[in-house]
Amino acid sequence: MKEVLENYQNLINSKQLVVGVIGLGYVGLPIAVEFAKKGYITYGFDTDKNKISKLQSGINYIQDIEDEQVEQVVADKKLLATNNFGEIKKCNAIFVCVPTPFTPNKDPDISYIVSACNSIRDNITPNQIIILKSTTFPGTTEKYVKPILEESGKKSGEDFYLAFSPERIDPGNKVWTTSNTTVVVGGVNEISTDLASMVHNVVVSQIKKVKSPAVAEMEKLLENIFRSVNIALVNEMAQLCDRIGVNIWEVVDAAATKPFGFMPFYPGPGIGGHCILIDPYYLAWMAREYDFVTKFIQLAAEINEDMPYYVKNMVIREIAKQDVTIKTAKILILGMAFKRDVDDLRHSPALKVVELLKQEEIQNIDYYDPYIPEIIVMGGKLDSLKEINKKTLSNYDVVVITTDHSVFDYNMIVKNSKVVVDTRNACKNVENATNVVLLGDGK
Ligand SMILES: NC(=O)c1ccc[n+]([C@@H]2O[C@H](COP(=O)([O-])OP(=O)(O)OC[C@H]3O[C@@H](n4cnc5c(N)ncnc54)[C@H](O)[C@@H]3O)[C@@H](O)[C@H]2O)c1
Repeated sequence: MKEVLENYQNLINSKQLVVGVIGLGYVGLPIAVEFAKKGYITYGFDTDKNKISKLQSGINYIQDIEDEQVEQVVADKKLLATNNFGEIKKCNAIFVCVPTPFTPNKDPDISYIVSACNSIRDNITPNQIIILKSTTFPGTTEKYVKPILEESGKKSGEDFYLAFSPERIDPGNKVWTTSNTTVVVGGVNEISTDLASMVHNVVVSQIKKVKSPAVAEMEKLLENIFRSVNIALVNEMAQLCDRIGVNIWEVVDAAATKPFGFMPFYPGPGIGGHCILIDPYYLAWMAREYDFVTKFIQLAAEINEDMPYYVKNMVIREIAKQDVTIKTAKILILGMAFKRDVDDLRHSPALKVVELLKQEEIQNIDYYDPYIPEIIVMGGKLDSLKEINKKTLSNYDVVVITTDHSVFDYNMIVKNSKVVVDTRNACKNVENATNVVLLGDGK
């Protein structure tokens, strides 16, 4: 055991450690680039040929990474992107960063993990450390990943090492990045935990070791469901505030002055992305296997998923106040990404708002989002504005702020729009914003 650890430390110290990252998306590519930047040869594997050919040409496609960094590590031959999974044999440490979506019935879909593990199984070599980073339900590493890898005839914890370590990257967050955010690691045995920690330590400074992969898997779900539940609480209170005439944004700001026991969360048009929306369903599915119903967590998910309906009703009310009909009304959606300053459209609540407005037979819906070049909703392409200005804004009966990107000029938007439905309190600093209808302001 000591020998394996020493051997890894030597590989790290001599920069001879070879890293493999399977799945080069929002999570995998930043990890691969971090190792490559530190001088380690890093194989990046992906089934998406388009991503591989871009990376082979030194072209970046992830917003959080600087283009020059990808260009440099590719030019230095430190980042080697490939869809030849046979190269897994050359790697000492392998990170698995593939998607974990849900099925149409909202059950976990771990088929990408299974497929990545099949590729590793076919190429596994002695003493490799395999680290699953994809968010998933407790038990995935031990009950699904381990048996697949052991089909190779090798034993986990002895012939190869296995750990789960959740990813904490927060796309768009300039303060908390891969290098300064603590990473949690739980291996199938002590040496697996130690090896996974040692390898992580190359690119992150703080590691929290836990006793098992299941603790690490559950910890990640707790983090994300904590957000889901708190957002749901404030979304419900926002709806109540609208009914009783109190401004939720003032309420949260006031509560946030308490220096202990309170953390502010803000209402909005719903939740999206590949994590917070999906994870409660992963946990609920696993809980059902144990005859347990996660009532509170599911209720929170339902409240959040109702928010696009609430926003749709706000828009319909504003149309009704004007001299237009549903069929003639022109709506502009500002911000389609699931959160501020990112280019990720996955499960964005703005998509749901558009879908609901279309179901009401509103025909003229355009959008503007500098990060999202193209959108298909209900089988049809949504028209996109190239820019917003006095002239373009004045064409619309209702402008809806679904995502509060920092690049938007809210003064200009409010000044030149007939009515703005603001679901994010994005116009809070705009003076004389009498044409702004704010979600949860109690009016
Ligand atoms: N995006 C985030 O902010 C974030 C944060 C924390 C955790 N996570 C979790 O990390 C995981 C990955 O998320 P993401 O946002 O990076 O997804 P992504 O879709 O951006 O990237 C996943 C990549 O894996 C590739 N892929 C799929 N199957 C593959 C296979 N068998 N072999 C090789 N490549 C394969 C896809 O082509 C894609 O490029 C998910 O479990 C997610 O929940 C994501």
